Amino acid sequence: MNIAHKSGSIAGAPQLLGPADFPDSPLAKALEQPILLGLFLPIQAGGWSQSTLPRSTDWRFDYNRDLVLKAEGLGFDLVFALSQWLPKGGYGGVHNGLALDSFMTTAALTAITRRIILISTVHVLYGPLHPVHFAKYSATLDHISGGRWGVNIVTGHRAVEHEMFGWDRIEHDRRYELAGEFIEVVQRLWSEDENFDFEGISSWRLKGAFVTPKPNFGRPVLVNATGSDAGIAFAGRYSDIVFITSPAGSDIDSALQALPAHTSRVKAAAIDVGRKVRTLINPMVVVRETEKEAWDYADAIVAHADTTVPKGFQGLDSDAHAWKGREGRVDRYRPVGGNIRVVGSPEQVVDQFVALKKAGIDGLQLSFFDFKPDLEYFGDRVLPLMKQAGLRF
Ligand SMILES: Cc1cc2nc3c(=O)[nH]c(=O)nc-3n(C[C@H](O)[C@H](O)[C@H](O)COP(=O)(O)O)c2cc1C
Repeated sequence: MNIAHKSGSIAGAPQLLGPADFPDSPLAKALEQPILLGLFLPIQAGGWSQSTLPRSTDWRFDYNRDLVLKAEGLGFDLVFALSQWLPKGGYGGVHNGLALDSFMTTAALTAITRRIILISTVHVLYGPLHPVHFAKYSATLDHISGGRWGVNIVTGHRAVEHEMFGWDRIEHDRRYELAGEFIEVVQRLWSEDENFDFEGISSWRLKGAFVTPKPNFGRPVLVNATGSDAGIAFAGRYSDIVFITSPAGSDIDSALQALPAHTSRVKAAAIDVGRKVRTLINPMVVVRETEKEAWDYADAIVAHADTTVPKGFQGLDSDAHAWKGREGRVDRYRPVGGNIRVVGSPEQVVDQFVALKKAGIDGLQLSFFDFKPDLEYFGDRVLPLMKQAGLRF
């Protein structure tokens, strides 16, 4: 083993030092900001909004590349892309299933960006994807990007996706056990100086395994997205950043009530094992010059709701815990999308960001209805106010 380990981790296993432990890493530099700022790329048809109101938002590469370069120019810290493996037609309507692959898209973007961190969502249990493949691919991206690439590890919550790969959906908590083993093995491949053999609870077997190059800053950035006990425990052990939702639905007032307890619980899971984890949340931002204009726009999105996708991203038999808080809630603005909604004038949007930070949120992963013009407006009108409010420098 090389020296890049911390002692005192779970079950006596050494923990790999992560990019947050290296002051020169892109993640450590981003974490100097009072709040992380990210963009949730729309690499899938329909973005995050179930509405047919006309907009430029497009899943294609060129559109997303332009967004990433714009976000980088504005000083955003990171961009993030989701992963889905949907049968023909996707969720239906505007979410018709057309989507780029998250891993490939962020890989392509590493070479044309300079500063921004790129996070790809990867289903580590499908395939099965071999840990040696994953360790090599990700170490390669770490080098191309200079430590700016990271992975959002997901375990797959839709039955149809597991079936597409040839088996029945694995039980919820078992998925996290398997993903834990996967990442432990990958961490060894990222750090060990000698060949090693491995056999565990999963079907992965390694004999004389070794991977070079080693990542620049201990390992790539690790993220996971969750709302369950098992997923939060996983995050505490392995992740730098946890992508969370509001346990009380998308409405900002209910979210602000529920988030302090939720973010404390997530952070405690890391503190309990001698680590630190940051919380990231995804607001759908609808911002216009006045409060009335912003709500008029949200109302127009709702007036064009696409009723052919009634269950949205929770269709197709999901067993995810993360979004249970929105079940049964009447929410007329649901077609607007986002894990929470931030609507208003530039000043009101910044006030809501300040409140989210007070509620324990360390990072904002923004989405918009009409990405290009909305990001441009955000850069002109909201970002300067975030700086004035002490959220960004
Ligand atoms: C904010 C957020 C983003 C997510 N993004 C994805 C994704 O891109 N692809 C995916 O298959 N699952 C995604 N998930 C689902 C989780 O990875 C996980 O499978 C699901 O929440 C079930 O786990 P849980 O019960 O631990 O919450 C996301 C979850 C959250 C909370």
